[in-house]
Amino acid sequence: MCGIVGYVGKRDCTKVLLDSLAKLEYRGYDSAGVAVFENSEIKVSKSKGRLLELKNKLENEGWIDGCCGIGHTRWATHGEPSDINSHPHGNRRVSIVHNGIIENYQKIKKFLEKKGYTFESQTDTETVAKLLDYYYDGDPMYAIRRVVAEIEGSYALGMVFKEFPNAVYAVRKDSPLIVGVGKDEAFVASDVPAILEYTKDYYLLERDEVVVLKNGKAEIFDIHGMKIEKELQTADFDLEAAEKGGYPHFMLKEINEQPNAVKTTVTPRITDGMPDLSECGLTPERLTRYKNIFVVACGTAMHAGLVGKYVIEQLARVPVTVDVASEFRYRDPILCDEDLVILVSQSGETADTREALRLSKERGADTLAIVNVKGSSIARAADMVIYTHAGPEISVASTKAYMVQISVFYLLAFELAYAKEKIDREECMRLTKQLLRMPDTINEVLQKSEQCKYIASKLVNAGNLLYIGRGLDYALSMEGSLKLKEISYIHSESYAAGELKHGTISLVTDGMPVIAVATQRKLYEKTFSNVEEVKSRGAMVIFVTHENIKADSKTVDYVIGLPSVDDILMPMPAVVPLQLIAYYTSVLKGNDVDKPRNLAKSVTVE
Ligand code: G6P
Repeated sequence: MCGIVGYVGKRDCTKVLLDSLAKLEYRGYDSAGVAVFENSEIKVSKSKGRLLELKNKLENEGWIDGCCGIGHTRWATHGEPSDINSHPHGNRRVSIVHNGIIENYQKIKKFLEKKGYTFESQTDTETVAKLLDYYYDGDPMYAIRRVVAEIEGSYALGMVFKEFPNAVYAVRKDSPLIVGVGKDEAFVASDVPAILEYTKDYYLLERDEVVVLKNGKAEIFDIHGMKIEKELQTADFDLEAAEKGGYPHFMLKEINEQPNAVKTTVTPRITDGMPDLSECGLTPERLTRYKNIFVVACGTAMHAGLVGKYVIEQLARVPVTVDVASEFRYRDPILCDEDLVILVSQSGETADTREALRLSKERGADTLAIVNVKGSSIARAADMVIYTHAGPEISVASTKAYMVQISVFYLLAFELAYAKEKIDREECMRLTKQLLRMPDTINEVLQKSEQCKYIASKLVNAGNLLYIGRGLDYALSMEGSLKLKEISYIHSESYAAGELKHGTISLVTDGMPVIAVATQRKLYEKTFSNVEEVKSRGAMVIFVTHENIKADSKTVDYVIGLPSVDDILMPMPAVVPLQLIAYYTSVLKGNDVDKPRNLAKSVTVE
């Protein structure tokens, strides 16, 4: 969370910082700030609220004219969003921006207070700024080295020193940072989209590496000051991919990008009609060695893991345990070298998932990352990685990332089931073919957008609602419920349909919306009985099922009929209406769809 940027070059630095921060707002958007050198002085402007507030402030109170500086967009951890708590922090000598959490900041603060420092904010970052000032004796590298040796926690830091008015320094540990290089200009940023307007070339900064941007160039050093040569990376997407492209919101754009995202993720992993994951080292021999599979992730990525569990267990008969990463890392999991731990993450930077990966490796399990962002921390640390090729996902509420994550689970399940001789080659090819056709199937469902909008209009005034389903439909309804909560702020719960009568059905009153997902034909009658139970208690039922199933119109109020594929693959088309319903409900409520309150896309703190 939080996005940081830095720039050195010939352009209007304040403008570059603001434009770059705009591409990072998905990381946090409760306040923003910049520190730019103007006439060799560090000038700071910061403001609570969206980036636009900062821009207005700069325009009204005076633009900072300079060619070198740092910027920040915040997701508050320590201290409420306010002007004072906004970054940059520091004083006239040093100024810093920070992404991460400094765990021992109280101790450092006490130490600095004894040395006569005073503090004005409630942030952990201010202690780092003052500690940097304390150690700074004219040599930035020395001060950075001393600070890094003392602070504990996660950080990416951007720093400027008054005596070096043409330079930006940055260092990282556990929070991401890339170094962009253009013609006579250089950048640091938390993520690639921030620099795409200017350059596609960048370096990945590793833990405890220090970058110095100076004279339009970037030089990278280890923490002891030894220069490091690094491999230049090139972004494989352009600015257009990170912009709205005519859609009113990123979320709608990303929902509509799903067919293509599935295509680019699945197609390269098919050889002669069969799934082929050998590119990442997952050969059939290796796959069949695993006695247990664990899937560990957060949020939507964890929900993708739930679909993965049903599919792998059903087809390949290998036990799969799905954990929320923040629970897994503290529950002392039993792991051994015959286990495979799959870490799923769009960003590849989620702090809890990253730690779960570290723990799994420590305990001897093989680790596989399913990640969207190339070169991200989780992708680099795992033993094996399968990249999902969804392109940048900007909307905080994840949609296309989920779709491609589950498509990878299908590939994995098909390959594993075949390798373990649970399905024959013919069956494996038949399923793979359906997966390959999925982009068309999803496109068909996207045509139901208007119907979803109409259903959303029936939900806008609801205070509560329920999502129900069984088996894969239950796994899917968890994602549907999360989507709605995230962006519409309507409370909803997802429940295993058969479990409703053990308590939750007491919530059902007249007119309460219940979204029932029933795509698993062998469970259809059972689910439908549960639907009748809620209907007879007054629920308004929205029923999601195969288009060729005719549900009794006395029991269901609205039906969304989906094109039929094998039941096991139904989560792919079935998630689309759930995404669209959440999207339109949020739009109709007038919410900020892409930047819902209190959330951030990339959660790099515990
Ligand atoms: C945040 C985002 C979610 C996302 C989760 C995991 O909570 O708001 O949309 O699912 O983090 O993120 P990851 O990048 O690890 O998939």
